[in-house]
Amino acid sequence: MAYTSTAKWFHWITVVLIAVALPTGFVIGHIKDASKMGFYTIHESAGLTLLIVATLRLWWRATHPVPLSPELPALLRFVADTVHRLLYAALIAQPLLGFFTTNAYGFPLRGETAYLGFIDLPKFMEANEGLANTLMMLHVWLGWTILLLLCAHIGGVIYHQAIRRDGTLIRMV
Ligand code: HEM
Repeated sequence: MAYTSTAKWFHWITVVLIAVALPTGFVIGHIKDASKMGFYTIHESAGLTLLIVATLRLWWRATHPVPLSPELPALLRFVADTVHRLLYAALIAQPLLGFFTTNAYGFPLRGETAYLGFIDLPKFMEANEGLANTLMMLHVWLGWTILLLLCAHIGGVIYHQAIRRDGTLIRMV
């Protein structure tokens, strides 16, 4: 069974946004010059857009079950399904963590780091350094977890493509 064009759009928009949010997240800490603010804006805007896309995608997915290949062994179906569910959960939790971290640091998305560069978002709390450090630690941890989940996901695609040769990748393009 083929994926619908809506499923494909959701999938590839998600890929592009992760490809922006994840690497920028990992490099921001190493940038010491004035371009750092631009990296924050790009990282945070891509991350929050991911939250919107992932939420819409989950809502859409609830009414449109994914056609996982029926001839796949039960164990592999379970693994693929679990990785997909964990990715959805992580893509919702990670932007929320990032968003509340910036607020807790007293660094809301306003002015120089407004959402998409020009949309000021409300400030949700007073600065609280202890809370900010805890949220940041979780954000870092979840960043690495997302990287691992993506490796598992891409590993699965390679397995389908190179070993089973069942055209799974082609179904998503
Ligand atoms: C799914 C979306 C997101 C992903 C995958 C992601 C991933 C990451 C990663 C991997 C890091 C680097 C952690 C490290 O130091 O090793 C990071 C840092 C950070 N992220 Fe995110 N993030 C996302 C969304 C957001 C959002 C929505 C915000 C804020 C609105 C945000 C704010 C931050 C901040 C402030 C840092 C610290 C940068 C620094 O000063 O070192 N992130 N993120």
